[in-house]
Amino acid sequence: MSTDLIDPFGRTVEYVRLSVTDRCDLRCFYCLPGDYRDFSEPEEWLTFAEIERVIGAFVSLGVRRVRITGGEPLVRKNLPELAGNLARIPGLLDLSLSTNAVGLTRQAEALRTAGIRRINVSLDSLRAECFKQITKGNLDKVINGLMTAKHSGFSPIKINMVVMHGINDDEVEDMVEFCIEHDFTLRLIETMPMGDTGRSASSNYVDLQEVKARLAQRYELIPGVMPGGGPARYVQVAGTNLRIGFITPISQHFCETCNRVRLAVDGTLYLCLGQDHKFEFRPLLRNGISDAGLQDAVQHAITLKPERHEFRERPQQIARFMSMTGG
Ligand code: GTP
Ligand code: 5AD
Ligand code: SF4
Repeated sequence: MSTDLIDPFGRTVEYVRLSVTDRCDLRCFYCLPGDYRDFSEPEEWLTFAEIERVIGAFVSLGVRRVRITGGEPLVRKNLPELAGNLARIPGLLDLSLSTNAVGLTRQAEALRTAGIRRINVSLDSLRAECFKQITKGNLDKVINGLMTAKHSGFSPIKINMVVMHGINDDEVEDMVEFCIEHDFTLRLIETMPMGDTGRSASSNYVDLQEVKARLAQRYELIPGVMPGGGPARYVQVAGTNLRIGFITPISQHFCETCNRVRLAVDGTLYLCLGQDHKFEFRPLLRNGISDAGLQDAVQHAITLKPERHEFRERPQQIARFMSMTGG
């Protein structure tokens, strides 16, 4: 059996984004409607044992990175137990987490001990009012969680900031200074038209090429690199340790280097963030599929991966909310 998963466009899939819940304890307006109730039910959630089997099959076929996402992953009960079991899968080299940090004050230490080395944290504003306007949440809680994570030894810690016109685009420089002070990496993200929420937030879209040009007037930006497997392109701020990553799905396509697929909590594998192509693992798992059968299913699923998203050409098409796959 081949040890690489190659999709129809010659790209090697080596990264699984694993969503452990579609629920969230925040309500970022670009992600989830304020009154959203249509979450999956517990009986539809893959159990930890089922998740470990699917991820085990992916790793046996060449996947080297797993990122735990949500919704907000920390709202899934006993997450450190799952993280510990995933960290022990031989061949899995990079286990990471994307979180809103609300739950990190309580859970950072346990997650670090379980084997998660690095985390990415959503933080769109350092102003309490603005943060509340975007997320409906409490900034102090998030900063507390972030600082607990820093002291627990996660490294690197990357801050994800969705830059939005008229909302937080005047805060990028403050965020740069904050990240220099705390030795975090900063990543700026363009809004994506995911779900009705993402589509309406696209009216706040900011082309990050313009933000980069603005930053270049104030800071000396030199080419930079950063460990990780995602689509960010990095620069470094000269004279500091700060790397700034630009995630530009709209202004600068990166699909030709896509290396990832997404497993939702209900066992649906989404082959692309921006497309509906999918493969269902739950029925197979609950009908007693063998490990070899599971490997065959993974290989088949990868043949369904489409070439690219069409956020620009067809922004109307995506019904899925970002919280179903955590980005
Ligand atoms: P590392 O580089 O491994 O640290 O992780 P990452 O940047 O891939 O993960 P993270 O969860 O922090 O994602 C940051 C942003 O990138 C989110 O807004 C994701 O939705 C976005 N993103 C990640 N992968 C893709 C992708 O394949 N396509 C698009 N359009 N966006 C992506
Ligand atoms: N556009 C861009 N980024 C989004 N995220 C959630 N919804 C959107 C959207 N519509 C981001 C979150 C988080 C990451 C996992 O995805 O802010 O940082
Ligand atoms: Fe929650 Fe993340 Fe969606 Fe914000 S972007 S509502 S933190 S799942």
